[in-house]
Amino acid sequence: MNERAQRQGGSGRFITLEGPDGAGKSIHAERLAAALRARGLTVTLVREPGGTALGEAVRRILLDRGLVHAPAADALLFNAARAQLVAEVVRPALARGEVVVCDRYADSTLAYQGHGSGMDLEALRVVAAVSTGGLVPDRTILLDLPVEVGLERRRRGPAAEQTRFEDDARHDRAFHDRVRAGFLALAEAEPARWRVVDAAAAEERVAADVLVAVGDLLPTSVAEVGV
Ligand code: TYD
Repeated sequence: MNERAQRQGGSGRFITLEGPDGAGKSIHAERLAAALRARGLTVTLVREPGGTALGEAVRRILLDRGLVHAPAADALLFNAARAQLVAEVVRPALARGEVVVCDRYADSTLAYQGHGSGMDLEALRVVAAVSTGGLVPDRTILLDLPVEVGLERRRRGPAAEQTRFEDDARHDRAFHDRVRAGFLALAEAEPARWRVVDAAAAEERVAADVLVAVGDLLPTSVAEVGV
C-alpha cells in the first residue's frame, strides 16, 4: 500500500502551496489555514525552508548574502530543512489526523534547482525521496501568475521580503521563466495531485479558488461552506 493510501480514512491531509516568487503563497497558506480552522478542522501551518529550529538555522544559511551557493548546495540545504520538518512536524501532525498546510515543499526544489538552475530532475527526486521518506502531498496548489507580475509585486513589497534569491545575478528573467514553466509542467504531469489557481486574480477570488481546490479532500459537511 502506498503512503497516501495508508493515510486515508479519517487520518490527516497534507496540502502544499507552490508557485513563483510573488505569487502570494504565504498569504494564501495563512488564509487557507484560517478558513479550515473556522470549519472546525485542526490545522498545522508550516513554511519551507523553516518550521523547526534546525530548519530556521538552515534558512539563515540559505538566505545569507555573504555566502556563495552552488545550486547543488542549495538543493541539499533545502532538503536538510525538509527532512527535519517532515520528521519533527508533518508526520506527527498527519498521524494525529490534522490537516497540514505547507508553504512550499519538494516541488519547489524541482522547479527552482531543477528547471531553473538546470540540475538533473531524477537526481533531485531521489534526494527528495530520502529527505521526505517518500511523503507526497495529497494536494498541491500551484499559484500561477506571469513572471513580471510576481517580480513587480516583490519589488513593491516590504524590503524584508527581498532575499538573496532576488538579487542573485543568476536568477534573471530567463531563470524565473524556467521556474514558472517548470511548475506548470509538474502540474500537468500529475493532474490528480495538482490544481492550478490563477494568482493574478484579486485576493478574495484566489482565496475562494484555493478552498475549492482542496474541497474534495475534506469531510463533505465542511467542504460545502463558502470562504
Ligand atoms: P520563500 O521564503 O518561501 O520565499 P517566497 O515568499 O518566494 O515563497 O523562499 C525563498 C526562496 O527560496 C524562493 O525564491 C524560492 C526558493 N526555494 C528554492 O529555490 N528551492 C526550494 O526547495 C525552496 C523550498 C525554495
